[in-house]
Amino acid sequence: MSRPESLSDMARAVRENAYTPYSHFKVGAALRTPSGAIYTGCNVENVAYPEGTCAEAGAIAAMVAAGETEITEAYVIADSRHPVPPCGGCRQKLAEFAKSGVTVTLATIDGAEQSVLVGDLLPGAFGRDHMEKS
Ligand code: THU
Repeated sequence: MSRPESLSDMARAVRENAYTPYSHFKVGAALRTPSGAIYTGCNVENVAYPEGTCAEAGAIAAMVAAGETEITEAYVIADSRHPVPPCGGCRQKLAEFAKSGVTVTLATIDGAEQSVLVGDLLPGAFGRDHMEKS
């Protein structure tokens, strides 16, 4: 049995709280930081559909609100046939706080897991260097 404080257990648990009256597709995310703390988030939908937020965004907001800005490991879980890749916006959000070598584990509640690197999720990412002329 995995440790109760594991990323996977925490992502699985927070997924239960997802607010998904429109898609009925619950997602949970958990992030670890250099302090060892784990921050979690779930998707929160809205009747004005574009106002909904992804699980990854919620976990990132919790991390930043707690005063941390570096992700060392991430885990995302959903009830899907195959592990669900983060959406484009979440790839950019993860890249803001995670180095390209950070592992993101994508999982299904049935136990399938797939690991990807942040750098592979968003090749050619727009970064702060692109705002410098010289
Ligand atoms: N969703 C996430 O929370 N994270 C992802 O990585 C993929 C999609 C959510 C957004 C929406 O509430 C639902 O899944 C269906 O797109």
